[in-house]
Amino acid sequence: MSRIRTKKEAKGQEGNRPGEELRVLISHARIQKKVAEMAREIRRDFPKDSLHLIGVLKGSIFFLADLARELGGEVSFDFLGVSSYGKGTDSTGEVKLTKDLDLSIEGLTVLVVEDILDTGLTLKYLLKSFEERKPKHLRVAVLLDKVERRIADVKADYTGFEIPNEFVVGYGLDYDERYRNLPDVCVLQLGTRGKT
Ligand code: PRP
Repeated sequence: MSRIRTKKEAKGQEGNRPGEELRVLISHARIQKKVAEMAREIRRDFPKDSLHLIGVLKGSIFFLADLARELGGEVSFDFLGVSSYGKGTDSTGEVKLTKDLDLSIEGLTVLVVEDILDTGLTLKYLLKSFEERKPKHLRVAVLLDKVERRIADVKADYTGFEIPNEFVVGYGLDYDERYRNLPDVCVLQLGTRGKT
């Protein structure tokens, strides 16, 4: 088990596999505090609205769960799945829906909930698709923002933390589907031993 609770515990600690080292970037306590702040800000902007949260699978699930509970008032949620055809500067920006929303968003106050904003290509695609479905309001909350990686001209309305361009896992984010269950956001460093 690789649950890491404190910086001290995590420092230099190996992950699940040989050669994978984890370093806490943002502790669970800091995440919780920030999520509560973001929820207060969102509720200040929409004090009476029923908020419809859309979680982008899979990385957003913990952020959405925590944010939904901090928001108070009337909240509903739905999920969608996407897969992108390649990432980085050579990306075509093409995004494929692997799971569409279950519910209509027409007339609703919608908050797209993302764990991380990287190139912005996924969000750009999603915003275009959602705008066509005529919500009353369309806003975006992201926990992590790798600003320097941005390709698409998009930004979130509510941002938790701006982070450097390092490979991060935990609190929903994965490496090869692992580490999503870490309570902290950690930098994953790959040594030579773990490489195939
Ligand atoms: C992450 C994140 C966004 C996307 C952002 O998902 O949840 O959906 O990448 O990247 P972009 O800004 O470069 O488009 P990922 O593809 O890692 O899938 P996952 O959430 O299932 O892990």
